[in-house]
Amino acid sequence: MVKIRQGMMKDCTDLLEVYQGTRWFYRIREGGYTTVEHVKDEHRGAAFERWGWLVAEEKGRVIGEIVFRIEKNPISGKIGIIRNLDVDVRNQKTTVGTQLTQAAEKVMKSKNVARVIATTPPASYNYWMKVKYFARGSIAKLKSPLGKIPTRKTTKIKTNQLKDLRKLPASLKFSHIAYPGAFAELAADIIDGRFVGKIFEFQQDDKLIGIGAITKKDSKSAVFVADITKRGIGSSDIVISRTALSASSWKVKSVETMIPKDQLEVYSTLSKWSSELSTDIPVTRLI
Ligand SMILES: CC(C)(COP(=O)(O)OP(=O)(O)OC[C@H]1O[C@@H](n2cnc3c(N)ncnc32)[C@H](O)[C@@H]1OP(=O)(O)O)[C@@H](O)C(=O)NCCC(=O)NCCS
Repeated sequence: MVKIRQGMMKDCTDLLEVYQGTRWFYRIREGGYTTVEHVKDEHRGAAFERWGWLVAEEKGRVIGEIVFRIEKNPISGKIGIIRNLDVDVRNQKTTVGTQLTQAAEKVMKSKNVARVIATTPPASYNYWMKVKYFARGSIAKLKSPLGKIPTRKTTKIKTNQLKDLRKLPASLKFSHIAYPGAFAELAADIIDGRFVGKIFEFQQDDKLIGIGAITKKDSKSAVFVADITKRGIGSSDIVISRTALSASSWKVKSVETMIPKDQLEVYSTLSKWSSELSTDIPVTRLI
């Protein structure tokens, strides 16, 4: 009998074994998973919600987990984001994945989520089809030389760099034109100290119109995510430009971002980007 229950820090010992089987081929975390501490690290921090952690237990051993959170979207309301789903390779294809997914959906539904989103590698795409998720859109990786990003000067919009961050401010728990989850993940990496970076809020007439997060990836490039509120529609070029150009202080040569491909036009109005499609597939389901 498989029992689905909330995850606990002590489950990380079993989860290390699970991850070693499921995550050897793609790098969620730099350097892979070699110690329980690596697994624990992933279950704390600014973007982690304790209620969004379920595990599957069989005969006293944890054999799978699902991690999820909620974001607000100004158009479609609350959306659920499945951050990861892993089932021990020795227990796969025995309905554990389905049980975890359905249990997570139940929790999200009780929190008034209407749409759930997951991002899957091609190898697991068929699983998501079986649990009634459908592919929607694709993810584009954009890159531009920093020197080619035009500045957008206006005194109407104020840039406020957030300092002394301890947890993810409510203003950062949404996605609109950014890929769901992308902003919070990057901001959490900065808040939790995994990467050096900066987080910005952009305001017009004291109202939030956009947010930006940027990290120095290496000596040559920076990675950023920008997003706008409903009020910021029409100012996205300013938010993107100011976020990207804040990398100038690091003397990097280029900036990169991952976006939903259907937002490409928003980026193209600012600058010419080189674009490449990600092999990961966004899948979604109405619950
Ligand atoms: C994807 C994953 C979570 C599926 O878990 P699981 O416990 O094997 O899934 P289930 O047993 O509930 O499978 C449900 C259905 O999907 C099918 N299925 C599961 N994985 C599949 C795969 N990789 N390819 C094709 N079909 C698959 C099962 O055969 C079953 O079909 P059926 O109803 O016709 O019998 C598991 O393979 C895994 O941990 N993969 C590695 C990590 C990963 O890629 N996670 C998803 C990204 S978030």
